[in-house]
Amino acid sequence: MTKLWGGRFTKAADKTVEGFTSSLAFDRRLYKQDIRGSVAHARMLGRQKIISADDAAAIEQGLTEILAEIEAGDFPFRREYEDIHLNIEKRLIEKIGPAGGRLHTARSRNDQVATDVHLWVKDETAAVQALVSDLQGALVDRAAEHKDVIMPGYTHLQRAQPILLAHHLLAYFWMLERDQGRLADTRKRADISPLGAGAMAGTTFPIDRAFTAQELGFAAVYPNSMDAVSDRDFILEFLAAAAICQMHLSRLCEELVNWSSTEFGFVEMDDSYSTGSSIMPQKKNPDVAEIVRGKTGRIYGDLMALLTVLKGIPLTYHSDLQEDKERLFDAVDTLKACLTVTAGMVATLKFNTGRMAKAVRQDFSNATDLADYLAKRGLPFREAHEVVGKLVLHCIQAGKFLAGCDLAELQRFSSLIGEDVYHAIAPETCVELRTSQGGTGPAEVEAQLTMAATIISARM
Ligand code: ARG
Repeated sequence: MTKLWGGRFTKAADKTVEGFTSSLAFDRRLYKQDIRGSVAHARMLGRQKIISADDAAAIEQGLTEILAEIEAGDFPFRREYEDIHLNIEKRLIEKIGPAGGRLHTARSRNDQVATDVHLWVKDETAAVQALVSDLQGALVDRAAEHKDVIMPGYTHLQRAQPILLAHHLLAYFWMLERDQGRLADTRKRADISPLGAGAMAGTTFPIDRAFTAQELGFAAVYPNSMDAVSDRDFILEFLAAAAICQMHLSRLCEELVNWSSTEFGFVEMDDSYSTGSSIMPQKKNPDVAEIVRGKTGRIYGDLMALLTVLKGIPLTYHSDLQEDKERLFDAVDTLKACLTVTAGMVATLKFNTGRMAKAVRQDFSNATDLADYLAKRGLPFREAHEVVGKLVLHCIQAGKFLAGCDLAELQRFSSLIGEDVYHAIAPETCVELRTSQGGTGPAEVEAQLTMAATIISARM
C-alpha cells in the first residue's frame, strides 16, 4: 500500500507505529463532516479555476458515492491510511483516478480536520441542546402536575423550610437553562471556518475562504491561519459546558437516590427505570440515577485530559491534537445518554405526595415562620429567633412539634403569641406567605412555570 506521502519515504511504517498513530478507529465518525468540507473545498477550487470544472464535478460525484458507501457499510476502511481523511481521499483517487489527487490542492489535513471538528461540534451541540430541552420539558410537566404539593426544603440536608415540590423541580429547570446558554455560546465559537488555513501559513493558490465558509454554514473565517489550525478552545468550551451540565444531572440524580430511599420515601422510580438485586428480593435500586451520577467523573476527566493535552503545545499543529477527538466523542456520547435517561426517569417518577405532606407536619421547618410571626408583632428578629430556639428545645425535650403545643404553653415563651399562631405556622401558610419574588409562594411558582413554558415553546 502506498501512503499518500510515499515520495519522501523508502520504508514502510513499523506495524506497531501504524497502529499507534492511526486515528481511524475513532475519527471515522467525522466522515459526514469530512465529505461536506471536501465538497465545499472542491467547489471553491473549481470556481476559482484552481482546478477544472470537470475535475471539480468528478470529485463531488466521487465524494457523494463515497458517502453512500460509508452509510451502506460498504466502504473499505484501511487502517494503514491512518485516518478518515486519508481513507476518503485514497478511495476517491481509486474511484475517479488522478482528478481525485487534485482535491488536496490548497489544503492540508490540518485545516481539514479542524474544519470537520468545528462542523461536528456545531451539529452535536444542537443535538445536546435539544435533549436538554426535553429534560427541561419533563421537569416543567412534573412541576405543573404537582402545583400544590408541599414538602420540606433542605439546607445541610436538614429540614429547613416548607416549599412547593414544583419550586424544587423548577430549580433544576433554571440550572439547565444556564446550560442552554453555555452551549449556545460554545456553538458561537465553533461557528468559524478554519478551512483555507492550509498546513498553517495559508496557501499560494487564489482560494476563496469566504465562499467555503458560506457553503459550510460558518458565520466567519479565522483571521489567523496559525490560530485556525491549532485552536481547540471550542472543544474545551464544549467540554466545560458539558461538565457543568452533567454536574447538574448528577445533583438531580443524587437527590433522587436520596428521595427513593426508605428514609425519605418521597419518590418511587418507575420499574422501567430501576433494577433489582440478585440476592435481596425486596430491592428496587435507583441504578439509572447512580450511573448518571457516576458518569460525571468521565466528563470531568474528558475536560481535564484535553486541558492537559493542550497546555504544552507550541504553534501550530502537533499530533497531540489528535487526542482531542476521543475526549470530545466520549463527552458527547455520555452527556446525550445521561440526558435521555434522566428525562425518562423524571417523566415516570412517582411522587409520594402523602409522605411529603406528612413530613412537613413532623418537623420544625415552620420555626422561621414562628420567628417571623413574632417579628411582625414588633419583637426584633434576633430576639424572636432566640424565643423560638428555646421553644424548639422545649418541644424536643417534650417529644412534640410546635403545632402540638397548646396556647398557654406557647405563651410561656412569648406573650405576643395569640390564637392565630396555629394558622401562621401551618405548612400551607408558610408556603403561601413566601410571596417575595422568586420565592416558593404559589403565585410566584405559577409565574415561574409560565416563564419556563414560554422559554420552552419559543425553542420549538
Ligand atoms: N488524524 C489527524 C488528527 O486527528 C489529522 C491531522 C493530521 N495532520 C498531520 N499533520 N499529521 O488530528
